[in-house]
Amino acid sequence: MLKLPWSSSNAGNENKDENPSEELPHRRACCGRTRRFWLILGMSAVLSVAAALGLGLGLGLGRGGSDGDGRSDSDSPSFVQPSGNSTTQGVNGTFWQPSAGASWQIVLQQPLHSFTPNVSIFDIDLFENNASIITQLHAMNAKVICYFSAGSYESFRPDTKDFNPLDYGNELKGWPGEKWLDLRSPNVRAIMKKRLKLAAELGCDGVDPDNVDGFVNDSGFPLTRQTALDFLNFLAAEAHALKLAIGLKNAGDIVKDTTSLLQWVVNEQCVAFGECALFRPFIDEGKPVFHIEYISEKGNSDVSTRTRSEICGVSDEAGFSTLMKKADLGDWVEAC
Ligand SMILES: *[C@@H]1O[C@H](CO)[C@@H](O)[C@H](O)[C@H]1NC(C)=O
Ligand SMILES: *[C@@H]1O[C@H](CO)[C@@H](O)[C@H](O)[C@H]1NC(C)=O
Ligand SMILES: *[C@@H]1O[C@H](CO)[C@@H](O)[C@H](O)[C@H]1NC(C)=O
Ligand SMILES: *[C@@H]1O[C@H](CO)[C@@H](O)[C@H](O)[C@H]1NC(C)=O
Ligand SMILES: *[C@@H]1O[C@H](CO)[C@@H](O)[C@H](O)[C@H]1NC(C)=O
Repeated sequence: MLKLPWSSSNAGNENKDENPSEELPHRRACCGRTRRFWLILGMSAVLSVAAALGLGLGLGLGRGGSDGDGRSDSDSPSFVQPSGNSTTQGVNGTFWQPSAGASWQIVLQQPLHSFTPNVSIFDIDLFENNASIITQLHAMNAKVICYFSAGSYESFRPDTKDFNPLDYGNELKGWPGEKWLDLRSPNVRAIMKKRLKLAAELGCDGVDPDNVDGFVNDSGFPLTRQTALDFLNFLAAEAHALKLAIGLKNAGDIVKDTTSLLQWVVNEQCVAFGECALFRPFIDEGKPVFHIEYISEKGNSDVSTRTRSEICGVSDEAGFSTLMKKADLGDWVEAC
């Protein structure tokens, strides 16, 4: 996840209530649903659930993962799950392999400022965090996954100037200034190799490379499934050589081709899109599906009710590591 259209550059500002948009990010879903589709689906879900139950389950919306259910961050049993701590001897190195069902938290586009809830894995922004944050997480026995965009150009990253204008094509719809990258470009690969090296130097245990699914979009380049697989093979070999684990991001179309190569998949909104089954092959291999469903930034209780009751009981997501998050991917979180 990257720069949301409405997010300002005031990373760390805790008051995002001025958010003008109710639209939620789902741009990496695989199968051509539109934003409007999701909103209609979401609204009808809200209405039907609200009508059926006639009451709100009233999720709390406090920061730092505290919530209104009488659970606090650090004593919430639902967050304490096995991290999976095995290492895998890969062809190109030894790296961490988390277990399916591992607990996690994801905070992007800002430094991590809360070490709660007490989860075993934190997915944090490669460019917004420093080695001391990662050291502190390790001291809590947590593992750290470092996020970066591998398949899109973002104008605000510290290494932005390394891209050649020929490397980037069409804008990602709804994400002004962010552009699909040509995954075949040697220069793009060199930049991603440096990002992996930075992740290793900071002490990350693994990486979460986003936007590898330009092949289902109008990227401006002739990207195909095979381009994506080649690119992921490249990233995985480089990551593993640096003793970094690495996961897939969305890209439901290539799950079956990557379950043995990669250590997990991060999915956005598979419940909203009704496609959680696509990601199950990772679970079948004992590997995590780190799953996010977004609720409204405004977080009113109707939307939360939809979220809790519909998101957490879907049979196709059994065994997933499911989180409800606000669209800014800040500290706020609820686990199923
Ligand atoms: C990616 O393609 C899908 C399917 O055409 C489309 O719905 C979605 O808006 C596109 N996403 C971006 C970021 O361009
Ligand atoms: C994971 O392994 C590390 C290093 O071997 C160890 O210190 C840590 O306690 C283990 N964590 C869990 C949750 O088992
Ligand atoms: C976090 O959870 C682990 C695993 O259950 C537990 O050993 C540890 O004491 C917890 N830490 C805190 C600060 O609650
Ligand atoms: C690391 O980042 C945190 C949070 O942004 C900051 O408070 C701290 O000073 C930084 N530490 C170093 C050594 O830069
Ligand atoms: C190991 O690295 C080589 C060279 O980079 C690469 O061709 C190969 O695909 C990698 N193997 C695995 C299993 O990652």
